[in-house]
Amino acid sequence: MEIKKVCVLGAGLMGNGITQVCAQAGYEVAMRDIEQRFIDGGMKTITKNLSREVEKGKRTKEDMDVVLGRIKPTLDLKEAAAGADVVVEVVIEVMDVKKQVYKELMSIVSKDCLFFTNTSGLSITEMAAITDRPAKFIGTHFFNPVPVMKLLEIIRGHETSDETVEIAKAWGKKIGKEVVVVKEAPAFAVNRILCTMLNEAFFVLDEGIAEAADIDKAMVLGCNHPIGPLALSDLVGNETLLRVIEGLHRELGDKYRPAPLLRKLVRAGRFGRKTGKGVYDY
Ligand code: 3HC
Repeated sequence: MEIKKVCVLGAGLMGNGITQVCAQAGYEVAMRDIEQRFIDGGMKTITKNLSREVEKGKRTKEDMDVVLGRIKPTLDLKEAAAGADVVVEVVIEVMDVKKQVYKELMSIVSKDCLFFTNTSGLSITEMAAITDRPAKFIGTHFFNPVPVMKLLEIIRGHETSDETVEIAKAWGKKIGKEVVVVKEAPAFAVNRILCTMLNEAFFVLDEGIAEAADIDKAMVLGCNHPIGPLALSDLVGNETLLRVIEGLHRELGDKYRPAPLLRKLVRAGRFGRKTGKGVYDY
């Protein structure tokens, strides 16, 4: 099966990045969100990213216009999904919301359309089970910032077919990513390790062991990480980190207890860069 038209559901941090890399690879992409301000924000980010590449001489202005021309932003789910070969769902990390989207989608898309879900850690199998195509359902976990990060972590659900895995792998390579395929497990492979470390950084901060800036400096200089754990949590979103850790805690027990300070920051609306304040103020 050849993928030609991609529908991305969500124009936020991850959705606009996935839209951009798909359009860059030559796919026609419909990017749908539920409010015009999210669509506008997504298009603004994509345009800014491409313009930066033009300024750096990495892309011509004409090429940028071609890439932008492949993107169809819309509020209309039917318009976005009808005729799509694959839907990449990037809606909020709430299982019931994601399930509701799949219920609506099933009456719109063709029976051959594949469902790819971008999730930080929710069960692929559980989402797939409410659809009429669990064999054509797979997890495609991207990393922020999507245009920069090279990895695509592909997660097979319990019923995902070998054919779907192969199509997802080929698609991932075509959009410029290195792929790894992992089995379904809470938070998969990367976030199980990464988010546990980020959560631990909040414990270290809360226990007064070191200041935030020193924790980050230490991990950058001592471990060669490109960015410290607290700054990274602000980049991915503290509320996203909390959701992943809560999922791990629920499924795997006390070893993954969320740091109280992380909860407190989320309750205060300190989600990170996206809200202008997190561990740090921006
Ligand atoms: N969008 C597009 N491009 C971006 C970007 C963005 N948001 N931010 C930076 N870039 C580009 C820059 O244009 C620059 O490109 P160039 O090399 O062509 O000039 C390049 O990335 C480097 O950027 P900067 O020089 O401005 O800044 P840094 O060197 O500090 O890099 C970073 C920024 C790439 C974000 C780096 O800090 C990094 O790699 N951080 C780690 C990111 C990470 O771990 N992400 C995974 C998070 S976990 C996740 O997403 C999973 C989820 O489920 C929780």
